[in-house]
Amino acid sequence: MLKIITYPNKILRQKSKIVENINDKEIKLLTREMIKTMLKSDGIGLAAPQIGKNLRIIVINTEDGPIALINPKITKKSLFKELGEEGCLSLPGVFGLVKRHKKIRVKTCLPDGREICFDAPGLFARVIQHEIDHLDGILFIDKTQKITKGEIKIWDKIKK
Ligand code: CO
Repeated sequence: MLKIITYPNKILRQKSKIVENINDKEIKLLTREMIKTMLKSDGIGLAAPQIGKNLRIIVINTEDGPIALINPKITKKSLFKELGEEGCLSLPGVFGLVKRHKKIRVKTCLPDGREICFDAPGLFARVIQHEIDHLDGILFIDKTQKITKGEIKIWDKIKK
């Protein structure tokens, strides 16, 4: 299992780089390790910066099992937004309400090199938006309307 980096580590605030060498063995190994780490930590999503790599890779636990998305991009967003509670493995014990697009369209590569496009609704859309934010150095506490549980020890960045 990989070590999960927690807030306020600066790695979480960096913008992650596009993966150029999708077919490399190291990338495949990394996605497998990230999935293992997510499942062992009872997470529904994990982004590469959270394990110390500033690369555009996220893993999500879906109803059909875990998937890894490489260089994911949101290409379409619903007008409607929905408020929901979020937590993060990098902010243990902290939960808050965040407004997210209800439905999104995602274009991404898979670990086998294929490029796909799919629509994600509801919780699936929320998790993807949360994880892609990680790739841009954004945490849910930057967007939360209200912390519902726990507290943030150091508020390193307040966005208005
Ligand atoms: Co998170």
